[in-house]
Amino acid sequence: MAVTIREANLADAPVICEYNRRLAQESEGKTLEPAIVAKGVAAVLSDAAKGRYFVAEEHQEVVGQIMIAREWSDWRNAWMWWIESVYVRQDSRRQGVFRALYEHVYRTARADPTVVGLRLYVEKNNQAAQQTYLSLGMSPMNFHLFHKFPL
Ligand SMILES: CC(C)(COP(=O)(O)OP(=O)(O)OC[C@H]1O[C@@H](n2cnc3c(N)ncnc32)[C@H](O)[C@@H]1OP(=O)(O)O)[C@@H](O)C(=O)NCCC(=O)NCCS
Repeated sequence: MAVTIREANLADAPVICEYNRRLAQESEGKTLEPAIVAKGVAAVLSDAAKGRYFVAEEHQEVVGQIMIAREWSDWRNAWMWWIESVYVRQDSRRQGVFRALYEHVYRTARADPTVVGLRLYVEKNNQAAQQTYLSLGMSPMNFHLFHKFPL
């Protein structure tokens, strides 16, 4: 059965929270606090200025997700879209689910003249995700990320 992609709504909050928790555990060995994630996900789903989730469905079940956060580029007078919260359920991997999510986001960005590019960050040891992004035509950037966290 073909995967279908749609924008998420508030009814998807529980599965998005669950996938965010699995993502953090699997990719960074981090245990997220469920109550905080629930509020964070609900905040995005209630306010498009914070971000947008798209979900992949198969047999009426959500099997994958992607989030877009916008960053204004003063150099380009346009938006850069950051890809975040990427997760595909384990039993649905290597079946093109993320490819479908990415292509949907790519087409949506291309159709909007105020958007100039897609970016993301990925954990250094996450080879599977890096191979995925390369295979979809993304290229590594020449930056290191720095942070001051927590404040
Ligand atoms: C990374 C992830 C999103 C890929 O999702 P997916 O639906 O399995 O990816 P797709 O089936 O669309 O794969 C597209 C292409 O990416 C590449 N790819 C995907 N998974 C790969 C892997 N484990 N190793 C090497 N290449 C891989 C392949 O070229 C693949 O095409 P092919 O299957 O025709 O060879 C998924 O493995 C995942 O959820 N991982 C855990 C969470 C995570 O790491 N998120 C990213 C955080 S930055």
